[in-house]
Amino acid sequence: MTKDLFINLSKNKVLNSGAQRWGMQLGAKSVVAGTNIEEMIESVKEINAQGISCTIDNLGEFVYEKEEARQAKEQILAVVEAINSNQVDAHLSIKPTQIGLDIDYDFCLDNLTEIVAAADRYGIFVNVDMENHSHLQPSFDIIDEISKTYTNIGTVIQAYFFRAEEDIQKYNDYRLRIVKGAYKESEEVAFQDKKDIDQNYIRLIEYHLLHGKFTSIATHDHHVINHVKQFVKENNIPNNKFEFQMLYGFRKELQQGLAREGYNFCTYIPFGTDWYGYFMRRLAERPQNINLVAKQVFNK
Ligand code: FDA
Repeated sequence: MTKDLFINLSKNKVLNSGAQRWGMQLGAKSVVAGTNIEEMIESVKEINAQGISCTIDNLGEFVYEKEEARQAKEQILAVVEAINSNQVDAHLSIKPTQIGLDIDYDFCLDNLTEIVAAADRYGIFVNVDMENHSHLQPSFDIIDEISKTYTNIGTVIQAYFFRAEEDIQKYNDYRLRIVKGAYKESEEVAFQDKKDIDQNYIRLIEYHLLHGKFTSIATHDHHVINHVKQFVKENNIPNNKFEFQMLYGFRKELQQGLAREGYNFCTYIPFGTDWYGYFMRRLAERPQNINLVAKQVFNK
């Protein structure tokens, strides 16, 4: 019920544009690493100093105007330059709808190809984030197309989808981030029960750890993390075959603790002014995240 409320709020266009005008109020500051590249790079440097790498998301999604998608692409190209000129340990996370997937398939393909080519020149990896079900297949198709020329591209498998098991086998050769899934999906395409999603999540992680190239386990769930630690030990999977990932601002002590234990760790760094949809999805996943809002408001 609460989850549905926040998911519906995340798609509200009027609130979204209002939120951009209001700035980083409502606590978004604690989970968004700045509104511009300079602020974001400062956050990345601080996190790198703790032995943690970063994946950078220039916030934005569900763009329906070509000009807006072009601006997003330009901004992402500027992030590529900033990663290189500051020599930070970071790669990119990109949502296809931000660079035109809802406008025109070829337009999005061209935009993403340009970004992947620019990143490739500096040896920077590009992760294509996965969005809701209607964007899944076209996103995979675009990745397939680009990977004919470039190898610095990977993507995400969302465990709530019934098709995830087939996808993980098909995309076994990619560097994959495995997540539970953040969008509201119908019972025709996705598990609805948390227990089913969690079970499938573990199955997919184990499969890719055993058979894949490199696995990013993206979760704040300590039960999953503890299971993975045990699993890699029992199966002699070396640390350089996987990493843990969490979102900026969440479970900071656990993030730092895992890095200190010697695991590869990567923090997902969202930045920019278009934070509203991202923030609402975090509240949908875990209403307790509202605590972050309270802390932000009262700690001014
Ligand atoms: P979940 O929300 O299932 O919580 C399980 C348990 O973990 C909780 O009951 C609690 O015990 C503990 N826990 C969770 N959060 C906690 C907190 N903040 N503090 C204390 N305990 C906590 N989704 C998507 O569809 N496409 C994508 O591309 C991505 N990309 C992505 C990148 C990264 C780095 C992350 C971490 C996540 C994503 N996601 C995503 C989101 C993902 O699909 C999922 O919605 C969220 O990670 C929430 O699920 P969790 O596995 O984190 O724990």
